[in-house]
Amino acid sequence: MEQDSGRLMKEAAGKAAVDALVKSGMKLGLGTGSTAIHAVRRVGELLAQGTLRDISAFATSFQTEIECEKLGIPAYTLNSKELAGGLDLTIDGADEVDPQNRLIKGGGGAMLIEKLAAYSSALFAVIVDESKIVQTLGTGFPVPVEVVPSARVQVVRVFEKLGASVILREALRKAGPVITEHGNIILDIRFSATVDPVAMETEINKTPGVVENGFFTGNIPVVYIAHANGTIETRGVK
Ligand code: A5P
Repeated sequence: MEQDSGRLMKEAAGKAAVDALVKSGMKLGLGTGSTAIHAVRRVGELLAQGTLRDISAFATSFQTEIECEKLGIPAYTLNSKELAGGLDLTIDGADEVDPQNRLIKGGGGAMLIEKLAAYSSALFAVIVDESKIVQTLGTGFPVPVEVVPSARVQVVRVFEKLGASVILREALRKAGPVITEHGNIILDIRFSATVDPVAMETEINKTPGVVENGFFTGNIPVVYIAHANGTIETRGVK
């Protein structure tokens, strides 16, 4: 069970970002996870109140799609005529944020679609509690990599040569690996020494069989950080 203080920080970060950034008429990417869900709920609340209107949402996972259904938030595919492959704003959580606002995402296994949303958004906003702030990426929280199942052994070999230890993500309440919403597996990789996340995001994706990885360096977000003392710190907000 999540501690109340952790939940309250996530809720505060989600509310702060939605209240500051979401405007009526927006095409809005909605992220995945225990923090992003608070932003989704705040959007639902403002729509129900009539404070927000005409939101066209893009849900980055089954979890978020189901929450949108519950709350009556109109959600579309990115290919739909409503969204036409582009978003005004995406709000999402992260597993780690470095001093340049670069990220690791994918703790919930949704990084492929989360990256589509983030990289097709005019503005990307990340909401985190203070525990997610780090100095360097890649040596702490493992970088999730979505991989085609038949490429598993050869991809593990490539990652080990890059200096990473590799763990196949195991499912809970099902024997065997996690299978993503796209029928793939996830390898969680941790580097033994500091890496350049920009170079590594590209390098990992060069490996045949890799679908996407959890380094997010291509659209630098504004970041809303909730602290345990109740304050919200922003980074990169103009
Ligand atoms: C989902 O795949 C992730 O990218 C999440 O955004 C990330 O893991 C943060 O999740 P929490 O907000 O649950 O920590």
